[in-house]
Amino acid sequence: MEVAIRIILFCVVLCHGGTFAEKLCFPKNFLFGVSTSAFQIEGAWNYSDKGESIWDRYTHQHPERVFDHTNADVAADSFHHLREDIKLLKELGVQYYRFSIAWSRVLPTGFSNVVSTDGVKYYNTLIDELIAAGIKPLVTMYHYDLPQSLQDLGGWTNPAVADYFKDYARVLFNTFGDRVEGWITFNEPYTFCLSGYGGNDAPGMQSSGFETYLCGHNILRAHAMTYHLYHNEMDARGFITITLDMSWMEAATKDDEDAAERARQFIFGWFAHPILSKEGDYPPVMRQRIDELSRKQNFPRSRLPVFTPEEVKSLKGTVDIIGLNTYSAYLVSEGHSKVDKTPSFQNDMNVYLRQDPTWPRSNSSWLRDVPWGFRKILNWIKETYNNPPIVVTENGVSTVPGLKDVSRVSYIDGHLRALHAAIVEDKVDVRGYTYWSLIDNFEWMRGFSERFGLYEVDYASANKRRTPRLSAAYYSNVARTSCLPT
Ligand code: NOJ
Repeated sequence: MEVAIRIILFCVVLCHGGTFAEKLCFPKNFLFGVSTSAFQIEGAWNYSDKGESIWDRYTHQHPERVFDHTNADVAADSFHHLREDIKLLKELGVQYYRFSIAWSRVLPTGFSNVVSTDGVKYYNTLIDELIAAGIKPLVTMYHYDLPQSLQDLGGWTNPAVADYFKDYARVLFNTFGDRVEGWITFNEPYTFCLSGYGGNDAPGMQSSGFETYLCGHNILRAHAMTYHLYHNEMDARGFITITLDMSWMEAATKDDEDAAERARQFIFGWFAHPILSKEGDYPPVMRQRIDELSRKQNFPRSRLPVFTPEEVKSLKGTVDIIGLNTYSAYLVSEGHSKVDKTPSFQNDMNVYLRQDPTWPRSNSSWLRDVPWGFRKILNWIKETYNNPPIVVTENGVSTVPGLKDVSRVSYIDGHLRALHAAIVEDKVDVRGYTYWSLIDNFEWMRGFSERFGLYEVDYASANKRRTPRLSAAYYSNVARTSCLPT
């Protein structure tokens, strides 16, 4: 008896007192993956009959806008290093690979009546080789790279583009659906609608306070149509979702809680509320503010479009799991814009965002290492949307070139510990974690200056040599064991 008590005491003091840390393991079916996107890694921008995308056009026309004046014509040349990249995935031991299909590689004109044999062949090889390697493909159908031909019709501000997306989706389901179990319609619509129409990204349009919302509206319509196409008209074998993005929005002071929640609703709720809420519509705070400001600005109708009752019905519940990209956190305070003057998304939201300078920095100006923000955003999604299953489709950090990426190891480790706590202690239903990115790649307007890869790419070498960083070994150990190192 006394011995038993001694053992228990020993364990209370030592096991939980921190000397022998408890091994943190993820639930049995939890999956680990890595992510990339077509434009950022493939290169081969005009191989065979591939059509031009808005990012091809934009980076060619405005090299001066890209930080290092580069473009992604060749990038990491994954198109020609496909088997090598699959070897890296095998080396890592990840269970799935999230990549995107370039619309203009499969449908060179943007329209579904011309399908590229070479484009289809490339993705068929990729998918077949992944499956042969025991790695599940998770396919993003749209990662920022609209065919230029469709931009010429007005891009995402034109409702017809949603129909063309559905046609494209049908081709993908018919061609690859027998082997692909996981589909993501859109990657980060908040970011590409905002930055493409009023920011610095392709197609480089300036928004007059309408286009950003029209883009979002048509993306949501396209997403819902595609969800129903997949589940009602195809021989669906898997799941389909959308990937939404937000850094955690923390109230700067107690008085800023309204502002912080408003930011969450404008950024994440814009797309999540129509899909995950009972209302099937935009968040009430967006509706109310944009309607009111539109009136003050003398517009006869709200700048935020209105869904038809059929659209509301068709939007609700159109994800099998929700995709989340999240990297960092911000402190939010009330904004002081002259909100009734210039119509814009920023003035409609009207918050002021900053980061705490004591949070560890990365090689990207917007990204600081804030693992507790990760735990909070997961809990916020759980509370706000009635505990939906979540897959983290991106999380990662940039470093300067070099293989000893200690700060990346520490970023991933911190975020995985936060994730573990969210799953085990807070009971958030997270099913998978995807590190961004497998290899260094073209970081949009930052060119090649920001590196997110577990593998470094030597862009100057003829064969675009890939070399593992320290973080590759760290992540591989986690992916293989499903446990964090003690
Ligand atoms: C999100 C985007 O989906 C991806 O394209 C980008 O490279 C990473 N964030 C890092 O900024």
